[in-house]
Amino acid sequence: MHLIAPSILAADFGNLQRDIEMLNQSEADWIHVDVMDGLFVPNISFGFPVAKVAYKYAKKPLDVHLMIVDPDRYLKGFKDAGAAGITVHFEACPNLHRTIQVIKELGCRAGVALNPHTPVTMLQDIIADLELVLIMSVNPGFGGQHFIEHTYTKIKEAKKLSEQHNPGLYIEVDGGVDQSNAAKLVKAGANVLVAGSAVFSSGDPASVISSLKHPEKLLQS
Ligand code: DX5
Ligand code: ZN
Repeated sequence: MHLIAPSILAADFGNLQRDIEMLNQSEADWIHVDVMDGLFVPNISFGFPVAKVAYKYAKKPLDVHLMIVDPDRYLKGFKDAGAAGITVHFEACPNLHRTIQVIKELGCRAGVALNPHTPVTMLQDIIADLELVLIMSVNPGFGGQHFIEHTYTKIKEAKKLSEQHNPGLYIEVDGGVDQSNAAKLVKAGANVLVAGSAVFSSGDPASVISSLKHPEKLLQS
């Protein structure tokens, strides 16, 4: 069964405790935490203080996605802020193998994210060391963007690599995920769906999470 990781980037920061508690009660599996530095991506989101608040109230693991340059500087900081998993960007890590080892030594699940322009084959020599690959289905930096269709091909490629070298790999997709594409993404091989605006812009976020968790029901209806 695939996992659902709602992104708190789209939550109401004035009511973050309330929104996290809603996620605790929902069928969400992980809580996705999008950190942006205004350098790697053209937007600044939040850092340690907000991650710590999420951790304080969350009953589910924090899945931290670092959209920052030189993430090695902050791996321990996010571990201490409560990260269960840390995902860094391929494009931001000149010594990716070392970065992955450090994340693992910290006791976190190690992930690598690929921007839309980065081919999945770039992971060939590191895939066996990873625990998660995050396929960006929008250009990182903002919530609420349009899903890039080529993502399905990349997920299938990641799935193939995983079958060859790392069968337990999480294949996560992030950006523009909603009830219209969830079933197709899972069918292509994604086993973690991140969703921000689809969840938090809804009047009934828990039921959106449930429908993303059970997309076969969407197909039937
Ligand atoms: C994009 C972020 C995403 C984003 C997803 O830069 O990494 O996690 O919050 O948001 P939606 O689901 O609104 O595209
Ligand atoms: Zn993300």
